Amino acid sequence: MDITFESALDLWKPWMWMSPSAGHDWLPFFLKLTVFLSEQSKQPNDWHSRQWRHLYFRNPIGIAGGLDKTGQSIDEWWALGAGFLEIGTITPQPQEPNPGKIMDRFKETQALWNKMGFPSPGYKSVMNEVERHFDNRSTPIFLNIGKNRTTPNDKAQEDYLFLMRQMHSLCDVFVVNISSPNTAGLRQLLTKEYFEPLMEKLGDESRRVNRPLLLKISPDETSEQLETILQASHNQGVDGYIISNTTVQRPTPSPYPVEGGLSGKPIAITSREALKNVISMLGTHRNNKLIINAGGISNGEDLKDRLALGADLCQLYSSLIFRGPFIFKKIAREYDHLNTF
Ligand SMILES: Cc1cc2nc3c(=O)[nH]c(=O)nc-3n(C[C@H](O)[C@H](O)[C@H](O)COP(=O)(O)O)c2cc1C
Repeated sequence: MDITFESALDLWKPWMWMSPSAGHDWLPFFLKLTVFLSEQSKQPNDWHSRQWRHLYFRNPIGIAGGLDKTGQSIDEWWALGAGFLEIGTITPQPQEPNPGKIMDRFKETQALWNKMGFPSPGYKSVMNEVERHFDNRSTPIFLNIGKNRTTPNDKAQEDYLFLMRQMHSLCDVFVVNISSPNTAGLRQLLTKEYFEPLMEKLGDESRRVNRPLLLKISPDETSEQLETILQASHNQGVDGYIISNTTVQRPTPSPYPVEGGLSGKPIAITSREALKNVISMLGTHRNNKLIINAGGISNGEDLKDRLALGADLCQLYSSLIFRGPFIFKKIAREYDHLNTF
């Protein structure tokens, strides 16, 4: 067997020898090194490309929120074959991660656990990164926006509106993140009291700045709550949904910490069910809404399955840690293979 850089990296996976948090901090370095040393990165990324409104997606698999919170690896994601990028979650002011342990990984179950709580260098720093790439972007760039943890919920809309006003010229699509389980009280913004007024303001602003607005959904809503969220956001002109964020649900018995969000393989079923529910609840109201699915997507078969269920695009985070930075190329090959035979 020929030892290529790709096979050596697959075998060695140096980030897996580090603590999960250190692996996360070193990710930009590993991505840079991979692209620098890899011939593969010079291949084109167009496969199963698609158009949504005026946006061209070179392929249907992108990076999920949180994988590049600052925009520091944009060139590398493109070189590695991502079909679109979601940068963030970005907060208005810089903030540190939550105290204590914020991340863990479980190799046997291919799961990640995190309690990060939107660590962010603040919008200015992210704008500087995105600005260097935006005019020559080779894929759409989504910006995922969140509130600072010190901003109370009754002032949350000011954080989201501020970010939309400041950043719209460097963004193809905004993603509103009110579904993270790791900022205390954030998911209350999904309840009736806050949700409708918030979506009304954000919907108005998205039309004013002429940028589509997607809502990132939690996988932990009951069918009734989900129905209310879809109805209210549809009324306010939301342009699509990302299904879904990490879950607070746990299997029994559970090897995972009680608090925080779980992602990767163990949430595949939940995320798949949530996707099916959203599609069936939207029914004929789907119109041209963009539906993106994230949660336990790890290979070409997963991608094919989620697209067949009705997702327009898919995203990944956890599987990149377990399969390595060539995952986009691997999924492209697997997907192609599935469609050939
Ligand atoms: C360590 C970690 C950090 C995350 N940070 C964010 C974030 O900042 N914003 C966000 O919208 N989602 C965040 N997510 C959720 C992912 O975007 C994604 O919705 C979720 O992990 C499910 O996809 P996966 O199973 O492919 O990981 C994070 C996930 C992980 C594992």
